[in-house]
Amino acid sequence: MAELTVAAGINRGGSAGLPERLRAETAELHARVEALVDVPGRVRTRADYIDLLGALAGLHTGLEGQLVASSWDLAWAGVGIDIAGHCRAGLLSADLDELGATVADSAEIAAFPTFGHALGCLYVLEGSALGGRIVARMVNAAIGDVPTTFFSGRGRGHQWPAVRGALRRYAERGGDGDAVVTGAVATFAVFAAGLIQPAMQR
Ligand code: HEM
Repeated sequence: MAELTVAAGINRGGSAGLPERLRAETAELHARVEALVDVPGRVRTRADYIDLLGALAGLHTGLEGQLVASSWDLAWAGVGIDIAGHCRAGLLSADLDELGATVADSAEIAAFPTFGHALGCLYVLEGSALGGRIVARMVNAAIGDVPTTFFSGRGRGHQWPAVRGALRRYAERGGDGDAVVTGAVATFAVFAAGLIQPAMQR
């Protein structure tokens, strides 16, 4: 899977704005969570897939719940983001429902200390959708025809440019880039903790 990690592409794209800084400063964390997702290693049956979706559902529900807190409404509008359009917990519920599984409990996520932290979290959540189609193909290759709306993002449109635009706008207006990086790092840590498989915790 090494060829899929974003670490290899750190310097792609030239000018070093906030999106490029985030990519560079979280590349190692990306490699770690990608290794933890480990579809070929962990998804061998439908039950394994349900477990993975359940873990992701808990994380997305908790994190997205903080992203849509009304305290950030004005700040999202200020950077041109319609935050509801970036929430994907509903896609996880739909896939789990189709698989006949109940939706997992939400992870407990503390409120973001500043809007910069929330923006860093959005960067990670929307970035994680970028590799989703690859993951969907891996899942289908491993266990056949199962619902993969969450991973494939079918029908959702490409939301990544809006996030990059928001990061640039925030930085141009003197926003705190360090807070955004801290929020992204903290979100990767939440995913890493939530994706560790029971066997790895022993
Ligand atoms: C097997 C699992 C995963 C695979 C195969 C994968 C693959 C990829 C790929 C190929 C890209 C680059 C897409 C592009 O430049 O167009 C990407 C970007 C990204 N992924 Fe993943 N990913 C995985 C899991 C995750 C997870 C679990 C997270 C976070 C929770 C994550 C966060 C990100 C972020 C933030 C970016 C954007 C990097 C940037 O350009 O700034 N990924 N991923």
